[in-house]
Amino acid sequence: MIIKTLVENTTLQENLEVEHGLSLYIETKKHKILFDTGESGIFAQNAIKMDVDLSAVDMVVISHGHYDHGGGLKTFLSLNSKAKIYVNKKTFDKHYAIRPNGVKTYIGLDEGLLGNDRFIFAGNSMVVDDEIELFSGVKAQRLNPSGNQDLLMMNGDEFIPDDFHHEQNMIINEDDKTILVAGCAHNGIVNIMDHYHYLKNSFPNHVVGGFHLYNRSRNTNENPMLVDEIGESLLKTGSQYYTGHCTGMESFSRLKKIMGNKIDYLATGSQIII
Ligand SMILES: [Fe+2]
Ligand SMILES: [Fe+2]
Repeated sequence: MIIKTLVENTTLQENLEVEHGLSLYIETKKHKILFDTGESGIFAQNAIKMDVDLSAVDMVVISHGHYDHGGGLKTFLSLNSKAKIYVNKKTFDKHYAIRPNGVKTYIGLDEGLLGNDRFIFAGNSMVVDDEIELFSGVKAQRLNPSGNQDLLMMNGDEFIPDDFHHEQNMIINEDDKTILVAGCAHNGIVNIMDHYHYLKNSFPNHVVGGFHLYNRSRNTNENPMLVDEIGESLLKTGSQYYTGHCTGMESFSRLKKIMGNKIDYLATGSQIII
């Protein structure tokens, strides 16, 4: 399996553009998967430079209903005429962020896309085939990202804290390897790992995704004590981790100190073979 980071918040390659968002291209034995689309069309520009043919993608997974993961969907639909797009059924609910000045900003997806017949709406669990599974319904029980406090959803006309029921994760089973792919891990990467263990009675060999340890609204990093606890908990799973995007460089550095070679950063343009 090959995983290419089409876009995230940083890059080591000058010819690629970056943004606050995430988009991964994952090629397995059976599928060419686009996992999230970033905020804009940048993922598609970078794809050309990274030798990725988006017209050949056969499935898209959108991790949750925030613009920095599904903002590029319109661009994708203009480039690809066949892929099904897997979203949690709550993905298109209205989501907001509260900025430090108190203004509530819409950060959800473009509802105008909903008429498209290529969406497949998943519940808490969906088995796509013997290679791919999706799951949501993770309970935020421990070591939850504090950045969630600025994120809201609607209950009728009222703003309430986002419950992140719209967040889904992907499991890939290829040969004897298991890979867990998360978008922002708003439910907490430790809780997502716990949920995976509850489902499979084991931990995945590899984990890829953002861990939401950076608060974009306030431009602040997660409490270092919490980051350290997360690192220690992740280390116990024995999985190999790759992270980027909303983990933030400062929190990544702390995780790296604790987890050593069990964690690496996936900047825009990076490519891993598993
Ligand atoms: Fe998010
Ligand atoms: Fe994000």
